[in-house]
Amino acid sequence: MAVHYVLNEGDVPEGGHVIVNIGGREIGVYLIDGQYYALYNYCPHQGAPLCRGIVCGTTMPSRVYQYEFGKSGEIVRCPWHGWEFEIKTGKSLIDDKIRAKSYPIEIQDGKIGIVLK
Ligand code: FES
Repeated sequence: MAVHYVLNEGDVPEGGHVIVNIGGREIGVYLIDGQYYALYNYCPHQGAPLCRGIVCGTTMPSRVYQYEFGKSGEIVRCPWHGWEFEIKTGKSLIDDKIRAKSYPIEIQDGKIGIVLK
Protein backbone atom coordinates (compact mmCIF):
# COMPACT_ATOMS: atom_id res chain seq x y z
CA MET A 1 0.00 0.00 0.00
CA ALA A 2 1.31 3.43 -0.91
CA VAL A 3 -0.12 6.89 -0.47
CA HIS A 4 0.50 9.25 -3.37
CA TYR A 5 0.16 12.91 -2.41
CA VAL A 6 -0.71 14.39 -5.77
CA LEU A 7 -2.81 17.47 -4.99
CA ASN A 8 -3.17 20.17 -2.38
CA GLU A 9 -6.44 20.94 -0.70
CA GLY A 10 -7.84 23.81 -2.71
CA ASP A 11 -6.75 22.32 -6.03
CA VAL A 12 -10.17 20.67 -6.37
CA PRO A 13 -13.14 23.06 -6.30
CA GLU A 14 -16.22 22.09 -4.32
CA GLY A 15 -18.49 20.14 -6.68
CA GLY A 16 -15.67 19.72 -9.18
CA HIS A 17 -12.93 17.26 -9.89
CA VAL A 18 -9.37 16.98 -11.15
CA ILE A 19 -7.88 14.05 -13.05
CA VAL A 20 -4.38 13.06 -11.96
CA ASN A 21 -1.96 10.52 -13.37
CA ILE A 22 -0.11 8.21 -10.99
CA GLY A 23 2.29 5.94 -12.79
CA GLY A 24 0.12 5.83 -15.91
CA ARG A 25 -3.10 5.28 -13.95
CA GLU A 26 -5.58 8.16 -14.35
CA ILE A 27 -7.71 8.87 -11.31
CA GLY A 28 -10.42 11.49 -10.86
CA VAL A 29 -10.40 13.27 -7.49
CA TYR A 30 -13.81 14.74 -6.63
CA LEU A 31 -14.85 17.10 -3.85
CA ILE A 32 -18.45 16.63 -2.70
CA ASP A 33 -19.73 18.45 0.39
CA GLY A 34 -16.22 18.90 1.73
CA GLN A 35 -15.18 15.26 1.28
CA TYR A 36 -12.75 13.96 -1.32
CA TYR A 37 -13.36 10.82 -3.38
CA ALA A 38 -11.16 9.10 -5.95
CA LEU A 39 -12.39 7.09 -8.94
CA TYR A 40 -10.36 5.25 -11.55
CA ASN A 41 -10.80 6.99 -14.91
CA TYR A 42 -11.91 3.75 -16.53
CA CYS A 43 -15.48 2.61 -17.06
CA PRO A 44 -16.04 -1.08 -16.23
CA HIS A 45 -18.37 -1.41 -19.23
CA GLN A 46 -16.01 -0.87 -22.16
CA GLY A 47 -13.18 1.22 -20.79
CA ALA A 48 -14.25 4.79 -21.50
CA PRO A 49 -12.57 7.63 -19.59
CA LEU A 50 -15.31 7.66 -16.97
CA CYS A 51 -14.14 10.78 -15.13
CA ARG A 52 -14.60 12.84 -18.28
CA GLY A 53 -18.33 12.20 -17.97
CA ILE A 54 -20.72 14.80 -16.65
CA VAL A 55 -21.50 15.00 -12.95
CA CYS A 56 -25.21 14.95 -12.27
CA GLY A 57 -27.91 13.52 -10.02
CA THR A 58 -30.51 10.84 -10.55
CA THR A 59 -34.12 9.96 -9.91
CA MET A 60 -34.69 8.35 -6.54
CA PRO A 61 -37.01 5.46 -5.72
CA SER A 62 -40.49 6.90 -5.43
CA ARG A 63 -44.15 6.09 -5.90
CA VAL A 64 -45.73 5.55 -9.30
CA TYR A 65 -46.06 8.85 -11.24
CA GLN A 66 -43.87 10.65 -8.73
CA TYR A 67 -40.38 11.65 -9.72
CA GLU A 68 -37.95 12.61 -7.01
CA PHE A 69 -34.59 13.95 -8.03
CA GLY A 70 -31.68 13.37 -5.68
CA LYS A 71 -27.95 12.78 -5.24
CA SER A 72 -27.28 15.96 -7.17
CA GLY A 73 -23.56 16.27 -7.87
CA GLU A 74 -22.89 12.71 -6.65
CA ILE A 75 -23.29 10.77 -9.90
CA VAL A 76 -20.93 10.54 -12.88
CA ARG A 77 -22.37 9.54 -16.25
CA CYS A 78 -20.03 7.67 -18.58
CA PRO A 79 -19.40 9.69 -21.76
CA TRP A 80 -19.69 6.67 -24.06
CA HIS A 81 -22.93 4.84 -23.24
CA GLY A 82 -24.34 6.73 -20.30
CA TRP A 83 -23.94 4.24 -17.50
CA GLU A 84 -24.12 6.07 -14.18
CA PHE A 85 -22.00 5.53 -11.08
CA GLU A 86 -22.01 6.88 -7.55
CA ILE A 87 -18.86 8.93 -7.16
CA LYS A 88 -18.70 8.20 -3.42
CA THR A 89 -18.67 4.41 -3.84
CA GLY A 90 -18.08 3.63 -7.52
CA LYS A 91 -21.30 1.62 -7.47
CA SER A 92 -23.28 1.38 -10.71
CA LEU A 93 -26.85 2.60 -10.53
CA ILE A 94 -28.11 -0.24 -12.71
CA ASP A 95 -26.43 -3.21 -11.04
CA ASP A 96 -24.94 -3.45 -7.52
CA LYS A 97 -22.37 -5.95 -8.76
CA ILE A 98 -20.85 -3.49 -11.25
CA ARG A 99 -18.46 -0.98 -9.77
CA ALA A 100 -16.02 1.58 -11.01
CA LYS A 101 -12.82 1.22 -9.02
CA SER A 102 -12.50 3.71 -6.21
CA TYR A 103 -9.61 4.51 -3.90
CA PRO A 104 -9.35 5.70 -0.30
CA ILE A 105 -8.15 9.25 0.27
CA GLU A 106 -5.87 10.46 3.02
CA ILE A 107 -5.39 14.10 3.90
CA GLN A 108 -2.17 15.16 5.57
CA ASP A 109 -0.86 18.68 6.13
CA GLY A 110 -3.16 20.07 3.47
CA LYS A 111 -2.16 17.51 0.87
CA ILE A 112 -4.55 15.04 -0.77
CA GLY A 113 -3.21 11.51 -0.89
CA ILE A 114 -4.60 8.65 -2.94
CA VAL A 115 -4.08 5.20 -1.42
CA LEU A 116 -3.06 2.59 -4.00
CA LYS A 117 -2.65 -1.07 -3.17
S1 FES B 1 -17.89 2.44 -21.68
FE1 FES B 1 -18.90 3.38 -20.04
S2 FES B 1 -20.99 2.96 -20.34
FE2 FES B 1 -19.96 1.97 -21.98
